[in-house]
Parts: sequence; C-alpha cells; structure tokens
Amino acid sequence: MPTSQIEFRPLHAAHGAEVRGVDLSQPLDAEVARRLRTGWLHHQLLLFRGQRIDDPTHIRFARQFGHLEIFPEADQRSSQHPEIFRVANTDEAGNLRRPDDPVAGYLTIVESWHTDSAYRPIPSLGAALRALAVPAEGGDTLFANLLAAGESLPAGLRARIARRTAVFSYEATRARAAGPVRALSEAEKHDTRAVRHSLLRRHPDRDNRVSLYISPLNIAGIEGMAEGEASALLDELTDWATQDRFVYRHRWQVGDLLLWDNRVTMHQVMPYDRARERRVMHRTALAGSEPVLPPL
Ligand code: OGA
Ligand code: MN
Repeated sequence: MPTSQIEFRPLHAAHGAEVRGVDLSQPLDAEVARRLRTGWLHHQLLLFRGQRIDDPTHIRFARQFGHLEIFPEADQRSSQHPEIFRVANTDEAGNLRRPDDPVAGYLTIVESWHTDSAYRPIPSLGAALRALAVPAEGGDTLFANLLAAGESLPAGLRARIARRTAVFSYEATRARAAGPVRALSEAEKHDTRAVRHSLLRRHPDRDNRVSLYISPLNIAGIEGMAEGEASALLDELTDWATQDRFVYRHRWQVGDLLLWDNRVTMHQVMPYDRARERRVMHRTALAGSEPVLPPL
C-alpha cells in the first residue's frame, strides 16, 4: 500500500487520531509500520475503523510495536491465544456471564481509571484493543492525556508529587472490583507483588517530556504519606487529569481497533447493561521496555 494514502485525522483537541488508508488484514510494509509508530507516539491513541480481523492478525499487528505481555490470570485470556486478554461479559461461546461469575466480577475493574499493567515492575507501554461486539448504549471508553495533564499541572500540586513514588498493587486492584473475584493462589500473589513507581515519568521516545503517572485503580498508597492524605492527593490528581479538555471519549463500533500509549494516557470504561447486552473486546498489551523513568 503506498504510504502517501495514510492519513491521520485528529479525534479530539486533547489527543487521538483516526488513521485512514491502512488495511490491518494485510501485512504492513516497513515504511507504513514506521509511519504508524511515529503517528502513535505523537497522537498517543490511534483509531483504525472497519477492521474485520481475527486474533492471529491482531497479534501480528501488535507485535510490530514490541513484545506482547501475557495477562496474569488464565481465565481472563483467550483459550486459543494467550496473548489475547478478553474484556468481555460473555464466555468464548458468546453466552452472557452471570453477574456472580468471578470472571465477569473481575472485569468491572476496567470502569475505574487506570493505565495498563501499572502493577508490574515494568508496566505495559501500549495496547491494541479491538471491538467484536458492542452494546447499543453505554460502554464507551474514556482516554485521558496524562502528558498534557502533567505539563499543565498547577505548581502547588506538582510540588506535592515531585520525587514521590506510589505503591501499585495487584491485590488492591482486585479488591476494587465491583463483583466477586476468585482468590489468588500464593504463587500468583508472589508473582504480582506490589511495586513502586514515580508519580511523574519522562518519556524516552518523546524527548523526555514529563507526564503525570497515575492509575487510581492500582495505587494502594503514596510512599511516606499517611493514607488519608495520599488518597486525597490522588483524588485531586485524578480530578485534574480527567477534565474534559484532557479526555477523548470513544464510542465503539464493531471493527474498531484502538492502539494507545500507556505511558502517557489512562482509560476507563463507562457502564452499560452487562446483564443484557454483549460487549466483547480483545486486547493485546505491549510489554514495557524500561521501568518508569523519573524526570531528569
Ligand atoms: C483494556 C481495558 C477498555 C475497554 O483492555 O485494557 O481497559 O474499552 N479495556 O474495554
Ligand atoms: Mn485497560
């Protein structure tokens, strides 16, 4: 495909662009892949519409941007392709899951603001999510620009988080699910021990610009700060970062694929009627290449 046909159309003043002229069912040539990578870093969020691709093609596409993570819990993954994390309220045969099903219970966590795999020592650098079934109403995904939020942070708020690290925990994450979750085994607990990351991070592929790095779903506390003070500060940071001017709201269509940069964005899913409507999304996550880097 000639690269001149690729177009990036901005989705929102905050960030995001729709890519036109790329068919993801076909292998991308090196020049197209290079332009997509540059566009992805710049726009932070790329939307590809009308892509009717299967899981192997999705995985092949994502691999052009890096190695893939495997989600820690097997019952949340595709049985055929472990690289696929299913964000779905159905089982693989398409049957709606009951609200008391722990797989469904766990997935309510995506309704809290987060950036993917923030509980890992090296968090995910990006993700590609595609829509296979979408509800008639609700289920939009909101994406906040943490780079813009960080660069415009009021001086007082910035001073309060300078050189601070937060504790990110998988156990705290699961405790925030609105439904029942299965208990973690001791081995799983060990593999997902709490980690610490700087609340401000620089982006090595973006000239070391400094963004906010918060993931309210995963943060259990702030190092050296009392619990009440830490949660009040986190609320203030979240309110700041999720103002309309920093947030793009995505209304899904079947065949949409979104590729985002987890280092400078966080996201949240809006509620929908999960007892009646099917919402089936397949995700691949790009493994991070370096730990969260504090400002220089
Ligand atoms: C994810 C996630 C959002 C969605 O896949 O990481 O948070 O819209 N999903 O389902
Ligand atoms: Mn997510």
